[in-house]
Amino acid sequence: MRYGHFDDEQREYVITRPDTPLPWINYLGSEDFFALLSNTAGGYAFYRDAKLRRLIRYRYNNAPLDVGGRFLYVRDDDDGDYWNPGWQPTQRELDSYTCRHGLGYTVIAGGRGGIRTETLYLVPPGETAEVWRVRVTNDRPVPARLSLFGAVEFCLWDAQDDATNFQRNLSTGEVHVEDGVVYHLTEYRERRDHFAWFACSAPVQGFETSREAFLGPYRGWDRPLAVEGGAMTGSIAHGWQPVGALQTALVLEPGESRDVTFILGYTENPADRKYDPPGSSRPNTSRARAVIDRYRHAGQADQDLAAVRAAWTERLGYLQVVTGDPHVDRMVNTWNPYQCMVTFNLSRSASMFESGIGRGMGFRDSNQDLLGLVHVIPDRARGRILDIAATQLPDGGAYHQYQPLTKRGNNDIGSGFNDDPAWLVLAVAAYLKETGDLTILDEPVAWDNAEGSETPLHDHLRRCIDFTLKRLGPHGLPLIGRADWNDCLNLNVFSEQPGESFQTAPNRPGGVAESVFIAGLFVLAAREAAAIARLRGEEAEADRCRAAAEAMTASIEAHGWDGAWYRRAYDHVGRLVGSASNDEGQIYIEPQGLMAMAGVGLADGRTQTAIASVRERLATPHGIVLHQPAYATYHLELGEISSYPPGYKENAGIFCHTNPWLMIAEAITGNGDGALDYYLRINPSAREAISDIHRCEPYVYAQMIAGRDAPTHGEAKNSWLTGTAAWNMVAISQWILGIRPEHDGLRVEPVIPASWAGFRATRLFRGTTYDIEVVRWSGGDPATQVIVDGSPIEGSRIPLPEPGTPRVRVEVRLS
Ligand code: GLC
Ligand code: GLC
Repeated sequence: MRYGHFDDEQREYVITRPDTPLPWINYLGSEDFFALLSNTAGGYAFYRDAKLRRLIRYRYNNAPLDVGGRFLYVRDDDDGDYWNPGWQPTQRELDSYTCRHGLGYTVIAGGRGGIRTETLYLVPPGETAEVWRVRVTNDRPVPARLSLFGAVEFCLWDAQDDATNFQRNLSTGEVHVEDGVVYHLTEYRERRDHFAWFACSAPVQGFETSREAFLGPYRGWDRPLAVEGGAMTGSIAHGWQPVGALQTALVLEPGESRDVTFILGYTENPADRKYDPPGSSRPNTSRARAVIDRYRHAGQADQDLAAVRAAWTERLGYLQVVTGDPHVDRMVNTWNPYQCMVTFNLSRSASMFESGIGRGMGFRDSNQDLLGLVHVIPDRARGRILDIAATQLPDGGAYHQYQPLTKRGNNDIGSGFNDDPAWLVLAVAAYLKETGDLTILDEPVAWDNAEGSETPLHDHLRRCIDFTLKRLGPHGLPLIGRADWNDCLNLNVFSEQPGESFQTAPNRPGGVAESVFIAGLFVLAAREAAAIARLRGEEAEADRCRAAAEAMTASIEAHGWDGAWYRRAYDHVGRLVGSASNDEGQIYIEPQGLMAMAGVGLADGRTQTAIASVRERLATPHGIVLHQPAYATYHLELGEISSYPPGYKENAGIFCHTNPWLMIAEAITGNGDGALDYYLRINPSAREAISDIHRCEPYVYAQMIAGRDAPTHGEAKNSWLTGTAAWNMVAISQWILGIRPEHDGLRVEPVIPASWAGFRATRLFRGTTYDIEVVRWSGGDPATQVIVDGSPIEGSRIPLPEPGTPRVRVEVRLS
């Protein structure tokens, strides 16, 4: 069952009924100001940090779902009928409804009783505000007398404190109203240099700033007293719950349309200009007023929309493909890079599943997020790599996360995940392959953000390698520490306290738990580090890294192979995890794909055997599960992984992040059918027709789909903020379509399904556009041939053209 459809031409997903199984959201803003916006206009906005600078409130586990956010009411002043064009929160029936989620903007249209409303939501480029451009049309044969009410419930900045510290914060709320603009001033009197505001482009008939006055005592947002009665009282909030609620009246002739714009903004003032005049108690509103004035001109929001769309057209121009498979084309061309951008911006901080107060930017996560879009925003990727590396600890280890506002690492969600440093190497390698910009390696980068501690970035890479080499266990495999890629495989925690966090509980000392996964990851990273050292002419370092990769490969071969697949780990006392000798958790997906990517087991056929084992034991129609059998009971020695009910999350869920590793493994072994088969099982567009089962948005990947042991097998959760986005982009574009940046040129080596006749692609790479055409060749020479500007080349890597070459034509003849 579907709840809408793709509009590929417009690059929009069009939702045609408001009661989607879950809020289906979009993200507005791409620089400093961000907003989450659902198909019923729910969600919230924040400046840079969803925890520390939250503008409006959102209650995650509310009933009904998704009530808070942007409240827009239309009231018929003749008969008192009122409704929300986005359906929530009144849920009054609409005669028409659509929500178009586009790239960086959303349009929600809803009509009732001959009044149509179409609201464009966006964050203007360069602005710290979200704009709701409401276009109201009277389709009645008679004039309509209407009121529009726009309202927001302010968050008192720190979202955690806002939701918990009531003894204080019910007394701190302050507002200021001037010229029909509500300024949210909480804590501006003391240490804050910023405030939020809510404004309307049209003359304001009335306002409320006290939630109780707007809603009425004991009433909800579904029947606000002020809207019901059609009049505001001009309340001023002192503490409690400050809101911004504005009313504007319009009379529309038959057929007439009018635009009204509401704006929710954020403004910072220099310390000496907080008040106007200085020394008074009147906040300096000049910056805010300049923004508001711009939106008094009709057409400003349309200009913003054009700018937002143009920026996306340019970004997406880096890679466009025509394969004939709509699920591949729309994900590769539009939605997958779009999701990658959102993960790049927000890591794992703010979604419908990440509350914005739990996690900041993940070290491992943000490094992986880069893999999916370094080609789209190479400059920002460069800056991000330097930010991440500056949080690295002097011993080469890493904080597991850092706060975007401060860019400083913290241990709030645990520490000592021994895989973390290796991901930095992979991110730097991806950046270098894309851009060829070796200068980044010489950038001075601090350790643990300590001023004066800077050493060149390449030194950080060296310490990433050392970090693992200094932490090897009895089998020569890396010690796992807190956990590895799987945050929930906690082999040293042994937690018996109800509710204790597996990520922050103390580790039991004296163990020898080793991760076969980190071993594979290390081989991959050490090979990349060797290649990078060689580019710098550091042969000794290159040799050291290569030798380390070989030694680790030997340890994997000796102790990592279980007979038909790679093992997962050795536990605290050296027992096997992920082995046929276990009762549960016999085979895990992670090492099987990763070894192929690291080139381990390719020569001796183990990779092929491991891939076959995955297909036999882990693959389901909804994707590949993490392991089998699921853990039926809690295992003290394994930790969080066994805390989930079977089939959910890390306990044998389809943790989508890992599936692309198998797609890549299939491609590496030449099986295009197998690779695309896995690709389509979790591709959200390919799952659109089962939206009632999948439940999450059909245009973005979800972190998890319930596995075969779960009663709700096939149900997705945790959409948007997941490494699945980046890795699927890598799997489809670099390995299945085979368009792969390398240090010395673009490789084009497709491994496509037998049923495909070929495909076309354009790829912008280091300033040159590659027009790529892949065809099945029946004319003689059986081996794959790559023809560049009419001349066949050796192999599949296209040498870099003369700098400044605008276009290169590539034909690939597949046998
Ligand atoms: C979450 C984390 C990620 C981790 C994964 C598996 O997605 O953000 O870092 O690798 O879970 O536990
Ligand atoms: C929980 C989640 C896991 C995530 C981790 C982050 O364990 O299940 O996916 O990686 O929290 O701390």
